[in-house]
Amino acid sequence: MAMLTVGNLTKRFSVGGGSTKVAVDNVSLTVETGQFVTVIGSNGAGKSTLLNLIAGRHLPDEGRIVLDGVDMTDWSEHRRAAYIGRVFQDPLQGTAASMTIEENLSMAAARGRRRGLRRGVTAEQRQRFRELLAQLELGLEDRLRSDVGLLSGGQRQSLSLIMATLTKPSLLLLDEHTAALDPKTARQVLELTERIVSQHRLTTLMVTHNMEHALRMGDRTIMMHEGTIVLDVSGPERNDMTVQDLLDEFSRVRGHKVLDDRLLLA
Ligand SMILES: Nc1ncnc2c1ncn2[C@@H]1O[C@H](COP(=O)(O)OP(=O)(O)OP(=O)(O)O)[C@@H](O)[C@H]1O
Ligand SMILES: [Mg+2]
Repeated sequence: MAMLTVGNLTKRFSVGGGSTKVAVDNVSLTVETGQFVTVIGSNGAGKSTLLNLIAGRHLPDEGRIVLDGVDMTDWSEHRRAAYIGRVFQDPLQGTAASMTIEENLSMAAARGRRRGLRRGVTAEQRQRFRELLAQLELGLEDRLRSDVGLLSGGQRQSLSLIMATLTKPSLLLLDEHTAALDPKTARQVLELTERIVSQHRLTTLMVTHNMEHALRMGDRTIMMHEGTIVLDVSGPERNDMTVQDLLDEFSRVRGHKVLDDRLLLA
C-alpha cells in the first residue's frame, strides 16, 4: 500500500506587482510505507514548500495529498500534526524554550489529542521520557525539569526528533534539520535520525544540501528544480551513484534552464 500520495500538487505565491512565483509545479509523488526519501535541490527549488504543503502549513492551489488512504488536502496543519512529525532547520522552532524538557515531551505525547485532556506529567511518563532521553547519551535524562532554552542547538534538535517521533507518526518530515549544527553534532543527530527511523520503520522525507548524506542515507533520492522533480532514484541505480553523478545532474538541469532562457530571448 502506498503510504503517501501527492497528486498534481501546485503552489503559487504572489510576489508583488501582480506577478506570481510557482514554487511547486504539478508535482506527483508516491512514497511507500517505510520508505526513507532524501530530497535535494538548489535554493528556491521548492523543497520546503513541498514539505509545508504536505504538513498543511500552506494549502495548495491544485492537487491532492493522501496519507494512509485518507485525503487530508483540506485539513488544518494542527489536525495533520497527529499523523505527521516534523523537525525544522532552526533548533528554536521545534521546541518551546520557556518550558521544561518533560513539559515539551508531555506536549508532544498529547499531540493530536484534544487540548483539554492534557494533564501534568505522570510518574509513568517521566520514566518513559527518562529512558528515551538516555538513548541520546547527552545526559538529558537527568535534566527533565530544566528549561529547554538552556540546551545547545544539537541537544534541542535531538529533543525535537524524539518529540516528532514520540507518537510514531505515519510520516516524518525533516527539513535540513542538521544544517544549523557543527559537523560533529550534525553527524550525531543524523545517526539518531537513522536509528529512530529504522526502529519504527517510519516513512520519511528528509531535505538536505549534503549530497553524501542524500545518497548514503535512506533508500531513495529525489532532486527538485524549479518546483518539479527532475530526478528520482532508488535501488541498484542509486547504490551505484556517486556525489559527482549528482553534481553532474545538477549542472545538467541548470544547463537546460540556461538553454530555455536563450530560447525565450530568441
Ligand atoms: N511564503 C512565501 N511567500 C512567497 N514566496 C515564497 C514563500 N515561500 C517560498 N517562496 C518562494 O518559493 C520558491 C521555493 O521556495 P522553497 O523555500 O520551497 O525552496 P527550497 O527548495 O526549500 O530552498 P532552500 O534550499 O533555500 O531552502 C522560492 O522562489 C521562494 O522564494
Ligand atoms: Mg528550504
